[in-house]
Amino acid sequence: MPDIPFLAGQDGARIPAIGLGTYDLRGASGVAATASALDAGYRLLDTAFNYDNEGAVGRAVAGSPVPREQLIYSTKLPGRYHRHDLARWAIEESLFRSGLDRLDLVLIHWPNPRVGLYAEAWRALVEARADGLVSMIGVSNFLPEHLDRIIGETGVTPVLNQILVHPYTPHDELRAANAERGVLTEGYSPLGKGTDLAQDETVLRIAAAHGISAARLLLAWSVAIGVIPLPKSESAARQAENLDVFGIALTEDEVEQLSGLARSEGADPMTHEEF
Ligand SMILES: NC(=O)c1ccc[n+]([C@@H]2O[C@H](COP(=O)([O-])OP(=O)(O)OC[C@H]3O[C@@H](n4cnc5c(N)ncnc54)[C@H](OP(=O)(O)O)[C@@H]3O)[C@@H](O)[C@H]2O)c1
Repeated sequence: MPDIPFLAGQDGARIPAIGLGTYDLRGASGVAATASALDAGYRLLDTAFNYDNEGAVGRAVAGSPVPREQLIYSTKLPGRYHRHDLARWAIEESLFRSGLDRLDLVLIHWPNPRVGLYAEAWRALVEARADGLVSMIGVSNFLPEHLDRIIGETGVTPVLNQILVHPYTPHDELRAANAERGVLTEGYSPLGKGTDLAQDETVLRIAAAHGISAARLLLAWSVAIGVIPLPKSESAARQAENLDVFGIALTEDEVEQLSGLARSEGADPMTHEEF
């Protein structure tokens, strides 16, 4: 089993340096896929209210021999529940759906700034943490101005900000803004889902030089730039492959070549709306 390092976050938080993305892992096959990931060594599971699989992921956690305190079950609050009372109910509902006795991490899924209730939602997360429903709280797809508003209004800094990060969308400025505020960065779609990244000539050349797959190279790059990648796979073999990245030593030049592939920003959190 690979030895997964931890990153240190706010208030003594220790977050595994890689986690499992669970989008689309649903039903009994989703339970089996999550269970195989836990067997392989994953200790951070990324789900969301809107993935319709909080129950499947929770079922795998409950059935796993891995001690509960070694696992981080992470979920996300949808945009339609940003209003304070609705946010509280949604967090409680996420807890009930998980079947667990507490959530380890809850994130605000998107800020939806045109609706303008994300600070209210953040206050509900702060209170849910104080009441013991959840151990850690964070955000996703937040820009620096959104971080500053919630930190300014509550004095509570999110443990992490989950954003799109892969070499076509490295988000250097956002990652730096997170780090300046003591906020860890989790990277979603680290394998470049929806792009041709795995066939990119630079990616294939550097992967071949190390004798590794494009997927392992992309994850090693995330780790090298200090991002916690969340690769999703339903295959036990690919889950294990994706964990085997901590011994890959990329040179500074290779990291820069990959970061230099930047070409898009992804969805704009100022206008993209998620409910
Ligand atoms: N916060 C947000 O707004 C947000 C948005 C998007 C995603 N996310 C989170 O981030 C997670 C990961 O992102 P993602 O699911 O979009 O994409 P991803 O992890 O970049 O890519 C997943 C795709 O890559 C394939 N794959 C996995 N390992 C592979 C390997 N070693 N070799 C070749 N192909 C491989 C998977 O297929 P198989 O399953 O068949 O292996 C799947 O089709 C999501 O599951 C979700 O938890 C968050």
